[in-house]
Amino acid sequence: RQCVIIDCDPGVDDAVALLLALAAPELDVLAITTVAGNAPLKKTTRNALMLRQIAGREDVPVVPGVDRPLRRKPSGASEFHGEEGLGYMAAFAAAKGVADGHGVDAIIDRVMARPEQSVALVVLGPMTNLAMALRKAPMIAARLGPVVVMGGARSEGGNITASAEYNVWADPEAADEVLRSACDVVMIGLDATHQVRASEDHIAALARLGTPAGDVAAAMLRFSQDVERRIVGGDAPPVHDPCPVAWLMDPGLFNLRPCRIEVETGSELTRGHTSVEFRVDPATARHRWATSADAEGVFSLITDRLQQGPSL
Ligand code: BDR
Ligand code: CA
Repeated sequence: RQCVIIDCDPGVDDAVALLLALAAPELDVLAITTVAGNAPLKKTTRNALMLRQIAGREDVPVVPGVDRPLRRKPSGASEFHGEEGLGYMAAFAAAKGVADGHGVDAIIDRVMARPEQSVALVVLGPMTNLAMALRKAPMIAARLGPVVVMGGARSEGGNITASAEYNVWADPEAADEVLRSACDVVMIGLDATHQVRASEDHIAALARLGTPAGDVAAAMLRFSQDVERRIVGGDAPPVHDPCPVAWLMDPGLFNLRPCRIEVETGSELTRGHTSVEFRVDPATARHRWATSADAEGVFSLITDRLQQGPSL
């Protein structure tokens, strides 16, 4: 089984990603670290605790990380995720049991405690925790397995501004530091995730599973569907954050190209834009960019694993 740390800011699509990872027999989730992003850190941490409980996986530690971007003001994305971060779902009091320690140290310690390249890191929010971990312990860059990030905008344009995707825009300096490090970065940005759109049939299939994880995943996507109709004028919302988890489980679901990715940090106008240069030597390129996704394959994976229940 692939060992993985999930760094996230739940978030309705983070929620589906967490439920998928926690149910996947292919993955051994060592920890969930949280960051400020879609909602403030206190809420994203509480949401991670709720989701692990729904998944029946209270064995997985939830460790809060950094509560603000490196240099920018905290942003939030409540119009896409609701005030509490999980759409229409109300917070429940039973969500307790945050682990001791700091999310940044949780990443460093787990990577250092295991064999080289055996621990993958999935980043589903602003890259602040990983950037801080790299500042504190630069040697983890070479020790980590793949760093699979949901983030970045290229040919699809942006979703928070004309040119930027939210996670990179929220903390562009953190993304810049990660991309300049020796990490093996797989970026699954809007080019791929905008192909993975939840239709009415996909949502209904999850709701029919009759499992707590299926019900909650359907409720998350239902909220995104309402947002898509109200704000964007579409019908089928993109399902971003499950994509990096799906790639770890079945890399064949995505087409990747070697490249060099750089982040705009100077301009306010194009803040957080990702420049993806494919004219590189594939033998030495450290970055890979997802150019497309097999959407039906991703949805089958989600539906299938959420039917099975927890994977211990
Ligand atoms: C990303 O931004 C967040 O709002 C989502 O959770 C996802 O990680 C999509 O741009
Ligand atoms: Ca997210």
